[in-house]
Amino acid sequence: MRKLETVAALRTHLQPLSRAGKRIGFVPTMGALHEGHRSLMRAARKECEIVVASIFVNPTQFGPGEDFEKYPRPLEKDLAACREEGVDVVFVPEVGEIYPPGAVTRVSVARLTEGLCGRHRPGHFDGVTTVVAKLFNIVQPDKAYFGQKDAQQAAVIRQMVRDLIWPIQIVVCPTVREGDGLAMSSRNAYLSPEQRRQALCLSKALHWAQGQIETGRGDVQKITAAMREQIEAAGPCEIDYIEVVDAETLEPKTSAVGRCLVALAVRIGPARLIDNVLVDAGGAGR
Ligand code: PAJ
Repeated sequence: MRKLETVAALRTHLQPLSRAGKRIGFVPTMGALHEGHRSLMRAARKECEIVVASIFVNPTQFGPGEDFEKYPRPLEKDLAACREEGVDVVFVPEVGEIYPPGAVTRVSVARLTEGLCGRHRPGHFDGVTTVVAKLFNIVQPDKAYFGQKDAQQAAVIRQMVRDLIWPIQIVVCPTVREGDGLAMSSRNAYLSPEQRRQALCLSKALHWAQGQIETGRGDVQKITAAMREQIEAAGPCEIDYIEVVDAETLEPKTSAVGRCLVALAVRIGPARLIDNVLVDAGGAGR
């Protein structure tokens, strides 16, 4: 496995491979790798001849007062995980490599970024699309892998690739969970044992909502109110949002019919946790 730190070194390494027709799969990450990240690497390994992963804690997607400084950076452990998953190249740039002094260009996707996490983290998705656009230009992958755990991020990136007419296939892989249902996240490390137990209420509430929708009880107002009660009963927390939206457009729904995304963001102690489930509630006529 090669660890490369500069854009020039990565381009020099990848260009002959891509000219030789090798299919390049790309997994962008911010490190602190867990099974969720590893599932993306495994998917890329299966489908592509060359697998590139990036580890870069992107400053522009963190708001003021968010956890950029304290975001975990266990680099040696992360490199070992990449090696174990058969990654060919790990790209680990410094901030100045991705944001040269004087850079003023931003990539911004409208509409899809306005609701859900976008409403609560102003500028976050502009940071994500800007860095992913840069990484796509550097790596020039055939396929790029993202997790359903960050459903809005995946939808925004799909839209960006479609709008900018990039020949990149976006693959979205299922959310990987702990044995008890908690969605894996680098931010779970911020939780105390008690908060970790409390955090289970999120996947439980989502699972409950899924059951309601699948059995035809699709009143969104009732579902989200009950979820709020369940989550608040589990312990002290701050709910950013609990919503049922259209799985493609991310527009809010009043009745859960068609392909729905039930999504939430809740602060428990120092961690802001997000999770979601996709539910197919059948046709609009049902
Ligand atoms: P990060 O949070 O490190 O996540 C990297 C990728 O792993 C994302 O596509 C995310 O959706 C996926 N992922 C995280 N937890 C997962 C889980 N439990 N199951 C499945 N996939 C999971 O998302 C980012 O970094 C950044 O915003 C990035 C795209 C790298 C841009 O900076």
